[in-house]
Amino acid sequence: MWSSLDDVGRLDSGGYGRFAWNDADLTLRAWFLAQAAARSLDVDEDRNGNLWAWWGTPGPGAVVTGSHLDSVPGGGAYDGPLGVASAFAAIDLLRARGFSPSRPIAVACFSDEEGARFGVACLGSRLLTGAIEGPRAGALLDADGVSLADAMRRAGRNPSRMGRDRETLSRIGVFIELHVEQGRGLIDLGSPIAVASSIWPHGRWRLDFSGQGNHAGTTLLEDRHDPMLTYAETVLSVRKRARLAGCVATVGKVEVTPGGVNAIPSHVTAWLDTRAPDDQTVRAVVAEIEERARQRGERDGVVVSIREESYSPRVDFDPAVRQSLGRQLADVLAESVPELDAIPVLGTGAGHDAGILSKHVPTGMLFVRNPTGISHAPDEYAEPADCHTGVLALAEVLAAYSSQ
Ligand code: GLV
Ligand code: MN
Ligand code: MN
Ligand code: MN
Repeated sequence: MWSSLDDVGRLDSGGYGRFAWNDADLTLRAWFLAQAAARSLDVDEDRNGNLWAWWGTPGPGAVVTGSHLDSVPGGGAYDGPLGVASAFAAIDLLRARGFSPSRPIAVACFSDEEGARFGVACLGSRLLTGAIEGPRAGALLDADGVSLADAMRRAGRNPSRMGRDRETLSRIGVFIELHVEQGRGLIDLGSPIAVASSIWPHGRWRLDFSGQGNHAGTTLLEDRHDPMLTYAETVLSVRKRARLAGCVATVGKVEVTPGGVNAIPSHVTAWLDTRAPDDQTVRAVVAEIEERARQRGERDGVVVSIREESYSPRVDFDPAVRQSLGRQLADVLAESVPELDAIPVLGTGAGHDAGILSKHVPTGMLFVRNPTGISHAPDEYAEPADCHTGVLALAEVLAAYSSQ
């Protein structure tokens, strides 16, 4: 099952380009349908493009697991797909044991978790829960000016139905997302798996720097209104403010217009991602960065504007779900790492659909160790033995919840 994903959306760089509704995404959706069909699971696609494969009759109280199949630009193989493939593998394991669920089990695949194409992360789960409205999501544009609504239409979907979907949401009794760990947390803890405690608040901001395009050879330095300078100073302040506040902030994407070697740019657009343990720190750091950008813009004769594109407040996962995950993991961990005397628990700075869903349904997460500590890049990895431990743990969790 896993190796059939290897080539889907693979870029020359070795990473993946699996973006909402692009060809790779459609191939992955077909892969999901094929995996479900091979297990005789019925699949629904909801109004927002999220996929649900059902073991048992779809209905309220379902035990739902899964993740996403899309990637960041040049992303790794595990962020997302590990949770979907592990969900199918856990079902195989339970069936091989002759288990029969009293509550339905569903494998979910959320649409556009990374927000790589239309800029808003966790779009499928945000739409499902009403955290973003259908018309606003439909109008989001990709880098080529194609709207989400048009991308969906081209894929044969009906975007006018996008938006809060109470019926689908009401089917979720509990949601458990298994995910590759995206830092070095589990390396440090010496464990193949952990229970998630929290997700740092995080947001994305678009920064526009408007100056005056001009000739690189004839324009005196003192006559320039060069937005590249304002941008560069802002990037340095991002690093400095994050360091002083004990948080993380990143400028990972930038567009320069018109992009000529021998032309002073007229415009620079950059995207800022900021994450911290608490909401106040995120807001304070972004305000400081904005102030510094405006000060520098005044000096450069460059107009600066900042717009929030998405925000996810801090998430503390449901204590009852965390406890229950801890109980279900205990035996699996005792077998694979007998020397561990406590169930490892880990917070994360990475965002997940589980974070969005946690405001509406009991939700928890399991992390699987990433021995490289690298994620959102081709070196992201998980050892097969650790993935197996993750599947064993997930199977225990599904069995426990679906027997209740
Ligand atoms: C998504 O994985 C994110 O944390 O940005
Ligand atoms: Mn990711
Ligand atoms: Mn992910
Ligand atoms: Mn994510």
